[in-house]
Amino acid sequence: MKTASFETLSESRAEVPVTFAGQELMLPEGANLAAALLAAGITTFRHTPTSGAPRAPFCMMGACFDCVVEVDGITRQACMLTVTEGLTISMPQEGADGS
Ligand code: FES
Repeated sequence: MKTASFETLSESRAEVPVTFAGQELMLPEGANLAAALLAAGITTFRHTPTSGAPRAPFCMMGACFDCVVEVDGITRQACMLTVTEGLTISMPQEGADGS
């Protein structure tokens, strides 16, 4: 999989369906969730509650919290998770359908 900014090093993983903000995506099973979403072209993971500024993964090691999403209704850091089939991912406070 390749986008303008990111390219995966291996295509050997099976892809599984997940949903991000109401958008169905096929991501490589077992891949880092934050990296897989970025490679799929998702560039905004959440918006700040004060200014509404968009945020996306920065540190990729659990320190910055810019990758926070809701996974199956629980707030999590995407960079600390792996892709599994059927994940329902939403932006915090914006709902599973992105509204
Ligand atoms: S990218 Fe910094 S905590 Fe996930």
